[in-house]
Amino acid sequence: MYKLLRSILFLWQPEKIHDFTVHFLKFLDKIPIIPPIIRLFCNYRNPVLERDVFGIRFQNPIGLAAGFDKNGDAFNAIANFGFGFVEIGSLTPQPQDGNPKPRCFRLTKDQAIVNRMGINNKGVRHAISYIQKHRNSCPIGCSITKGRETAMADAYKDYELSFEYMYDYVDYFVLNVSCPNVKDASSNQNLENITPIIDKLLELRIMYDDYRPILLKISPDVDREYLDDVINLVLISGLDGIIAANTTAKRENLRSSKSSVEKAGNGGLSGKPLYDRTLSLVKYIRHKTNGHLPIIASGGVMTPAQALELLDSGASLVEIYTGFIYNGPRFVKKINKHIAKALIERKSQL
Ligand SMILES: Cc1cc2nc3c(=O)[nH]c(=O)nc-3n(C[C@H](O)[C@H](O)[C@H](O)COP(=O)(O)O)c2cc1C
Repeated sequence: MYKLLRSILFLWQPEKIHDFTVHFLKFLDKIPIIPPIIRLFCNYRNPVLERDVFGIRFQNPIGLAAGFDKNGDAFNAIANFGFGFVEIGSLTPQPQDGNPKPRCFRLTKDQAIVNRMGINNKGVRHAISYIQKHRNSCPIGCSITKGRETAMADAYKDYELSFEYMYDYVDYFVLNVSCPNVKDASSNQNLENITPIIDKLLELRIMYDDYRPILLKISPDVDREYLDDVINLVLISGLDGIIAANTTAKRENLRSSKSSVEKAGNGGLSGKPLYDRTLSLVKYIRHKTNGHLPIIASGGVMTPAQALELLDSGASLVEIYTGFIYNGPRFVKKINKHIAKALIERKSQL
């Protein structure tokens, strides 16, 4: 059924259909009878799926990755599809338009997306004005990053501003230093540039009564040396976890024709081709941290079995984005049912 709908939706430019879908879901969410119906068809609850990660209770381990609800004004409508958490953003202190359009493309043969959105978002105040009026139905993460025009030396100010604005409204924060589609993409990731940002936020956090976990989202394109350094930084600084990982700037092992890959152009690639890299990152980080650091796996989850494999390999939670687009509204339910079944079977064998 979704395959048919998908073939119609895929006739449109990805960003257009994404914006239309988000508006439509927000509209449906306002009709009292609709959200319970969506939940009836798309939610799956089972106590074996529940877990506590960095002090937050999650009904299930499957979350929506950053970039889908960029403005933080649609998370409840999207959570109806069975997500255990939703990560909004990435947000910047001021609204920004992002890169020129078109900036998002499908590589259907690879079940992938190439995007160079450039962190288009309506800014933190817009998100707050929505959140103040709507109680969230699941934990909300907030991905924050530096504004396009902000100099690298001042990046910490942007992070501080968004952090302070959003602190009372969300459950955890993600520092997005790994977006490949922005002006300062490579220097954003330099540890010399990340360290002052982390220090400032940790200093700020002490002032608050309530604790908000802070995670770092890394790129899948990093080498071993950088990865070791970033793991050390996270452990020593006292950050609460790592998200592995963002989209890749690489174009390896693709089945799509050379011309369609070239037509899509530069940008971050997400979806199926990312999966092996995500799995190896999760295994490596788990090994290096003896399983003591929470990891959120993100990248290329296209089947329920892959989500389970990531959890078994050391991820505490799993985020999806492209898999949701390609597999449809009941994908989260399918994943959660699969995980619950496996966990129950394992328990019964003990
Ligand atoms: C269109 C699009 C926009 C995205 N925007 C963001 C963003 O603003 N911030 C961020 O941290 N990640 C962003 N991402 C990356 C996703 O959060 C996710 O890490 C990545 O797509 C890999 O997961 P997937 O293969 O399940 O899509 C974006 C991804 C896509 C496809």
